[in-house]
Amino acid sequence: MIIEIIEKKKNGLTLTKEELAFAFEGYLKGDIPDYQMSSFLMAICLKGLTDEEIFCLTDLFLKSGEILDWSSLEGVKVDKHSTGGVGDKTTLVLAPLVASCHVPVIKMSGRGLGHTGGTIDKLESIPGYRTDLSEEEIKKQVEQIGVVVTGQTKDLVPMDKKVYALRDVTGTVESLGLIATSIMSKKLASGADKILIDIKVGKGALIKNQEDANFLSGITKRIGDHYGREVQTVLSDMNVLGRTIGNSLEVIEAIDVLKGKEQSEFSKLCIDLASSMVSMAKGTDLATSKQEVMNALLSGKALSKFLELVKAQGGEIGKLSISEKVFEIKSEKEGIVRHIDALKMAKYSMNLGAGRKKEGDKIDPEVGIYLEKLVDDPVHIGDTLGRVYYHNVLPEEDIASYFTIE
Ligand code: URA
Repeated sequence: MIIEIIEKKKNGLTLTKEELAFAFEGYLKGDIPDYQMSSFLMAICLKGLTDEEIFCLTDLFLKSGEILDWSSLEGVKVDKHSTGGVGDKTTLVLAPLVASCHVPVIKMSGRGLGHTGGTIDKLESIPGYRTDLSEEEIKKQVEQIGVVVTGQTKDLVPMDKKVYALRDVTGTVESLGLIATSIMSKKLASGADKILIDIKVGKGALIKNQEDANFLSGITKRIGDHYGREVQTVLSDMNVLGRTIGNSLEVIEAIDVLKGKEQSEFSKLCIDLASSMVSMAKGTDLATSKQEVMNALLSGKALSKFLELVKAQGGEIGKLSISEKVFEIKSEKEGIVRHIDALKMAKYSMNLGAGRKKEGDKIDPEVGIYLEKLVDDPVHIGDTLGRVYYHNVLPEEDIASYFTIE
């Protein structure tokens, strides 16, 4: 039976709900081995999925585990998902910023693997910060302070966990249908009323071009319609990473953005995403929401909400620390910074110990990279381009070469 299903997809035909269920439920139960699922995933990758197949698959994924329900909590809950960026610390800014505009935020985030960082690892660099809140604790905290950022509960979309792990090692991550299924099943299971998806586009990102981004944007909205949940998407540049990569450093940068101190493409992205979330939750237009977001930032309300969040989850922000060993990256060129290779920076940072090479690796929260110069900044010979915070030895790669200066 599974062979016929694989062959049917290989020949570009549309699968029925029963056939998809047979394959994916069988895989989750362990009845279908990795090698057959790998072959099936590759056929899906090459031949694609119809909208109807994507809806069926999302439903199968969604129903494979627990589905959270926050309807007893007051207010419209808006969740946000990013398709994966380097140095992506937007959640650290967005959650308190949006909550300080009186929109409840329940954010369940993951850990990082490879060069992509995880919000949970970043928050755990704050000594004491708990990321394992129970459903009851989440409800209580949202009622009290309007915001929670915690780890995913164990049983959320187990089918995605198992299939994603296989996609990751079989060259089948880049199927737009599977990406839409994976994202939307998790967001629907997390129980938000409305969903904002930040689609990262560009070289080094999962979504390489505008056409694919448009497709993903359309299909996630259609899945949302199917479940009666509003989905909005924002397309953003993969290379907008702010000034830092590395866990404690990213928390410090998030605090700077929340203080309204840091003006960069990254802070602009945070403001845009927050404005969209507030607008979705309150039904106000974007300009009005942006004004509200700016007021929250400039009045210090957003920063206070962040500190309240950290305290509520047991974190001691005063104990956040970065390594005292610092290497200054000097420019040997004169000109304008035209490009910073985000992917290479992320891999370098991972080699410093800021990320995991394999699941279960321990992270060093105190190491990472701070970018003194950003794209479009003028540079003179001898200027400091950035700083590397390290503990043991520096990676061999020439990090200065990751800046294109012309
Ligand atoms: N992000 C997800 O959550 N799933 C994918 O498949 C790709 C990006």
